Amino acid sequence: MRVLGIETSCDETGVAVYDTALRGAAALRAQALYSQIALHAEYGGVVPELASRDHVRKLVPLVRQTLAEAGLAPADLDGVAYTAGPGLVGALLVGAGVGRALAWALDVPAIGVHHMEGHLLAPLIEDGDPVHGRPAPPFVALLVSGGHTQLVAVEAIGRYRLLGETLDDAAGEAFDKTAKLMGLPYPGGPQLAALAERGTPGAYRFARPMIDRPGLDFSFSGLKTQVLLAWRDSDQSEATRADIARGFEDAVVETLAIKCERALDAAGSDTLIVAGGVGANRRLRERLQAMAARRGGRACFPRPALCTDNGAMIAFAGALRLQAGQHDDAAVRAVPRWDMASLPPLA
Ligand code: KG4
Ligand code: ZN
Repeated sequence: MRVLGIETSCDETGVAVYDTALRGAAALRAQALYSQIALHAEYGGVVPELASRDHVRKLVPLVRQTLAEAGLAPADLDGVAYTAGPGLVGALLVGAGVGRALAWALDVPAIGVHHMEGHLLAPLIEDGDPVHGRPAPPFVALLVSGGHTQLVAVEAIGRYRLLGETLDDAAGEAFDKTAKLMGLPYPGGPQLAALAERGTPGAYRFARPMIDRPGLDFSFSGLKTQVLLAWRDSDQSEATRADIARGFEDAVVETLAIKCERALDAAGSDTLIVAGGVGANRRLRERLQAMAARRGGRACFPRPALCTDNGAMIAFAGALRLQAGQHDDAAVRAVPRWDMASLPPLA
């Protein structure tokens, strides 16, 4: 089954074709991504109306480009998957409208995919490491993006039990806001991480939020305030900025690692999968891999390009559901707020 995937929930237009008849990396026949970063940079954050208008401009050409790269005509598609939510409603409506209309014209089924399920399944797109192969449920998933920080017990694909989540800022949001308050341009997360590489470990030590409390929830807004005070009272030199970035990154990574280990204990699992934009963070990857290995288990990540928003994860998640016989009716579906636990199981 050849499924076109469309992602437009925020500031990236992503398109991909996933072919369930092919194995391994070849199944992802083509993908293309257009990032709106330059468009939003001067405002210091995503401007929803500008995001929607840019998706309108870019989506159809990107669909054409992706099909051409896959060597396919529109009529070769067997299904269309689009991100139905959660996300910015105007941005979602562009992908939903184009995706639904295309499926209607081609007389193939369409499915609205949950963006976080797309992230969660991204580590399953490719073959995985040569020893263990592709991870399979049950496992624990850490979802760390710009809008979400969640620990989820995955009993099976489509059966998600929330173990904990952030009470305020998401991990990616904390990276972005912290970067901004130290004067880094939007989107600050990856830049803050790059800066932290040059910082001295231990020069600044920030409290790890919520680790002395039971439960698996997170809170990152206090950490941001700690950084603000440290930055304000510092000499604000380049070296200090790097040291503070390092202290912040270490605090986030350490907090996530402690909670992930507790979540594995709580779920009785030895496999952790990590997805979402912050999953691209090198130090987080190393720290979680070391933690899982120490327990005799493993931590699985998509390659960094599949951690951040992309069309491939939507094509893949949609293909699994379409293959299981699930699809939507003719309505154009956009669900800005959508609880992942309400999704139906796959089988
Ligand atoms: O999953 P994603 O692309 O979009 C959402 O669904 O939100 O995640 C974007 C988030 C941003 O907050 C960005 O700053 C963060 O992921 N991010 C990173 C890194 N790369 C992206 N945060 C820390 N280190 C990185 N290397
Ligand atoms: Zn995302």
